Amino acid sequence: MLGVRKAVFPVAGIDTSFLPATKASPKEMLPVIDKPLIQYAVEEAIGAGITELIFVTGRGKRVIEDHFDRSYEVEHVLRARGRQNLVELVQSIKPANVECVYVRQAEPLGLGHAVLCAEKLIGDEPFAVVLADDLLDGKPPVLAQMVHIFSHYDSSVLAVEEFESWESTSHGVIDGRHWDERVISVSRIIEKPTPELAPSSFGVAGRYVLMPSIFHHLRALKPDANGEIELTPAIHSMREEEQVLAYEFVGKRYDCGTKLGYVQATVDFALRHAELQETFDAWLRERMGAAQLDAWAAGSMLSQPAPVAPGLAH
Ligand code: G1P
Repeated sequence: MLGVRKAVFPVAGIDTSFLPATKASPKEMLPVIDKPLIQYAVEEAIGAGITELIFVTGRGKRVIEDHFDRSYEVEHVLRARGRQNLVELVQSIKPANVECVYVRQAEPLGLGHAVLCAEKLIGDEPFAVVLADDLLDGKPPVLAQMVHIFSHYDSSVLAVEEFESWESTSHGVIDGRHWDERVISVSRIIEKPTPELAPSSFGVAGRYVLMPSIFHHLRALKPDANGEIELTPAIHSMREEEQVLAYEFVGKRYDCGTKLGYVQATVDFALRHAELQETFDAWLRERMGAAQLDAWAAGSMLSQPAPVAPGLAH
């Protein structure tokens, strides 16, 4: 079986969590500090050795194509201003050995349908699916960890993490048994069950390495009650014929499909951003100190001594 050379990025979906910001701009272009979410996802894939990026795109998403294309105007202006370092920065967004391919999903008919749109471009080889609104911070990159597991076991691999039971309704949830450290043999998978029906506390994060046999299962699926074809039931059906593994990845997931996850990612990334690190850290400490003082003054911390704000200590 070939190695994993191709990744599918389903980016056709319309966001409602970040309106009005995403009314006319793709949610995948929301920046965490200075880099759009889709670029983090692409960098992770490139870090896993992937050289063909397949974007399943839709109306209103054309700026994603522009982002991964050359911009002669921007480069010209930067050169004229003597900002060679920034010219290199914008040119490095898409390395020369990486190819971008775009295919349209005319209607938002679900994640499984989006993956099916890439079938002809994938052909008969294993591939990754990367959901850009899950920002995964790992070293090595989480997808590289998964490709390693894939090559070792020669089976599809789903990235999973443990979650709080109330979060089951926003994940594909697996059942199975531990096989190896961090590796679970999946016996079934259910899309977004209620906490009572969740078979475990392991939910799928937005990374998959799949065998091409998934297409046959996707094509056999009937649309669900919302008229959509989801990926999870196709994986469940695939599981009945071949082994599927779940992998507890090493790293941190930020759910940038929610405002809270997005702000958490922004804060954590700012705290180690070369340009911001020091000033942001100082500001945050001052701000937290002030917030504690406010809370104390409001009586919510009456049982505790008044905190000393940074800069006030003697
Ligand atoms: C999708 C999948 C779900 C998975 C999740 C990870 O849901 O359908 O199984 O757990 O991504 O983020 P979505 O977040 O697109 O609703």
